Amino acid sequence: MQFFVDSADCAEIRALSELGLVDGVTTNPSLVAKTGRGFFEVVREICAIVPGPVSAEVVATDTDGMLAEGGQLAALAKNVVVKLPLTQAGLRAAAAFRQKRIATNVTLCFSAVQALLAAKAGATYVSPFIGRLDDIGEDGTALIGAMRALYDRHGLTTKILAASIRHAEHVEAAARLGADCATMPPKILRRLDAHELTQKGLDAFLQDWNASGLKFE
Ligand code: E4P
Repeated sequence: MQFFVDSADCAEIRALSELGLVDGVTTNPSLVAKTGRGFFEVVREICAIVPGPVSAEVVATDTDGMLAEGGQLAALAKNVVVKLPLTQAGLRAAAAFRQKRIATNVTLCFSAVQALLAAKAGATYVSPFIGRLDDIGEDGTALIGAMRALYDRHGLTTKILAASIRHAEHVEAAARLGADCATMPPKILRRLDAHELTQKGLDAFLQDWNASGLKFE
């Protein structure tokens, strides 16, 4: 499974990328707005840092507007993935981009039926928001399993990009249930390796070694 970082903070993306943790990047208008920088400038910089797919989202709400904005985004770098909302206009735009062989990520997916529509439109990726489903008392990870079953049953090749991830258990569940990729905030990606017993065990090994007087020959 691929790990994407959900951020528009170039310093964070560069640091995580140097750690070898980043296969791709997702952004959204809220994340870009937080940087206070120009949208295209940020997208260009991220695309130069990470060679993998970089999702950049349109803000138009009609198909023609999405096609125009998506065309501009796709021209910024060859690894741009045009992110489109899961609306009728967005699905029409996804189908048109498919014809032009431009990669898309259909976002804000909250049901398996919506995921079917994204796949039928020919989206490259679809982003189920599992944390936001949990936030309203639903089972976000169950959606990943349902989507995997439907896609496999019907031979649909759209990649499932688990999004709105809140903790490491979401990442584990997404992997177990068959998501192709998971996108997560930097603070979660940074802490995926952490386990209390790993640190405790390492401290004990080193304490015993140092007390023994042994040398590493
Ligand atoms: C993914 O593409 C989205 O940008 C992101 O995962 C949304 O996460 P949030 O629900 O934590 O805002």
